[in-house]
Amino acid sequence: MYLTKDEERILEGDLGPGAQLAMRVLVKLGDIFGAERLIPVASAHVSGVSYKTAGDAAIEFLKELEEMGARTSVLATTNPCGFDERLRTILELPEEVVEAQEELLSLYEAIGLKRTLTCVPYYELRPESASHLAWAESSAVIYANSVIGARTNREGAPSALAAAIIGKTPDYGLHRPENRTPGLKIKVDFRPGDELELWALGFLAGELSKGAIPLLEGLGELSDWELKGLGAAMASGGMTAMFYTSASYRKARPESRKEGLELVEIGRADLNDVIERLSSPEEPDLIFVGCPHCSEEELRLLASLLRGRRARPDRLFLICTSRYLRDANPSLISAIEASGALVVVDTCMVVSWVERLRIDVVATNSPKAAYYLPGLSGVEVRLANLRECVELACS
Ligand code: F3S
Repeated sequence: MYLTKDEERILEGDLGPGAQLAMRVLVKLGDIFGAERLIPVASAHVSGVSYKTAGDAAIEFLKELEEMGARTSVLATTNPCGFDERLRTILELPEEVVEAQEELLSLYEAIGLKRTLTCVPYYELRPESASHLAWAESSAVIYANSVIGARTNREGAPSALAAAIIGKTPDYGLHRPENRTPGLKIKVDFRPGDELELWALGFLAGELSKGAIPLLEGLGELSDWELKGLGAAMASGGMTAMFYTSASYRKARPESRKEGLELVEIGRADLNDVIERLSSPEEPDLIFVGCPHCSEEELRLLASLLRGRRARPDRLFLICTSRYLRDANPSLISAIEASGALVVVDTCMVVSWVERLRIDVVATNSPKAAYYLPGLSGVEVRLANLRECVELACS
């Protein structure tokens, strides 16, 4: 990969060992993927923030990096961590876990990352369309590429962190317009009845696409929260990092368009199969909404569904969103919490210690959460749409 004189100097250690290590990571990545050069990024979004999933190895690594003098050179945001004040109390987390999580966050901050602690950083700090990013967190990556029109590969935590430090990323994959062409067309001949069906379609599209970009036809107009969940499900069904709908494909650049795509048709029965595969019929002990973190639109919807309702005392109803959106919408949060539901920020049930609640079944409307929760926390998951989640949570 071609490096400018300044980049060469960083690689030789002129800006210190921290920047040198970050540059080594980027050069290695660029060489593996055949990039010709590095390009500037507008921001980086780093995953690996929850102590539950990142563990002590991440603390050790970040300590070394911080001591080596590594500092971010562009806006860098962080994914959810393991708890907020409220969840910490509910889970009765041991002091050593709380301290370890705090140490991990302090190290990220010392390196220069912002404590956004959300998988929807784009509601607070929205990147410009066509800007280059280095984002980890698959649901944010697919949203950035498909809804915002920004350009990012599906980074891992180390490569996103390296890009945050250098302010650049290798120019390959989805940074290049010619790689943003669809690889198959997925046709749906019915309108999904609710967000759960739509997101199950996303999960199946992710499985069928095998890493290619799908073009979804026949879905009509979708709202922002529908698109957010559709992408998150797709990115957990497969390695998908971008999709088109008929509407977004009409606006795609000419070099990103392609004729003669393989056609796959999906019927409603296929979606029922996905939901059955990911779901248990058991009664839930906990209801979790907000994977990815709830947008303002979802908070509004929840507030209206919960008006005059009361959450069952024997079932926790947890709604996850970002601290930014919680603080920006105090009346919606009060309306939601008047029902007894709890709004939790900075975290989500997937990256937290749900197993400490000693529960068996979690209900959620998120296929992504349904895919990860059994493996990470040993609970069964019941998939239900948002309205059904509210019914399950309320007496
Ligand atoms: Fe976000 Fe947690 Fe889901 S990080 S996408 S709410 S698994």
